[in-house]
Amino acid sequence: MELLFVFLLLQVLSPCLGYATGAPTSTCNDMLPRHSGSQPQPTATPYTILTSARTFQAGQPITVTINGPEYTGILLAARSGTSTDDLGSWKSPPVNTKFLKCSGNTQGAITHANTIPKNNATVFTWIPPNNNITVYFKATIAQQRTVYWVNIQSEMLTKGSDGIDLASGGHPGMASEGFLQLLAPCLLLSLMLPR
Ligand SMILES: *[C@@H]1O[C@H](CO)[C@@H](O)[C@H](O)[C@H]1NC(C)=O
Ligand SMILES: *[C@@H]1O[C@H](CO)[C@@H](O)[C@H](O)[C@H]1NC(C)=O
Repeated sequence: MELLFVFLLLQVLSPCLGYATGAPTSTCNDMLPRHSGSQPQPTATPYTILTSARTFQAGQPITVTINGPEYTGILLAARSGTSTDDLGSWKSPPVNTKFLKCSGNTQGAITHANTIPKNNATVFTWIPPNNNITVYFKATIAQQRTVYWVNIQSEMLTKGSDGIDLASGGHPGMASEGFLQLLAPCLLLSLMLPR
């Protein structure tokens, strides 16, 4: 019932929400929001990207979670070095998120689908490519529309030898939902506004 109400509220007020429904493809490469009058936070990010393993095997799922304050907007992809190619692919996006279809890899990046707050109960599942390269997860994360951090990076993940996966790192876990702090929707975040 509350969810339905929030949904209807967001629909009615959507014109003032900008990209409340996810980052646009113009952010595919540099993952930077583009709206004037708003800069990334200069402070150290309060967010940590946790992975279920530090080595990967082609096709063997790795789970990724975000620890930190509840967030409303996200853009998340696996990268290597300074390349802007999204590596591997994501399995079906968890609730309140969706694929950002960048050219060449339509399941290579994930973004928020709405402004409902998310936390470490939102678990992303990544399928590694068949490549012997070192990768990391890179994210832009917005707490609210004008409060966001860019270039957040996970630890490096290396290709494991076949059959040996030295798993380490964080454990995606349960967390209470407490998400109904929706106030004035126009102040609520949409990660990326047009131009
Ligand atoms: C990946 O490449 C590195 C360096 O080229 C090599 O030492 C390592 O054995 C390779 N790993 C696999 C799984 O092919
Ligand atoms: C998930 O987030 C909550 C609240 O910040 C925290 O207490 C908990 O330790 C986190 N879970 C994991 C597995 O990191």
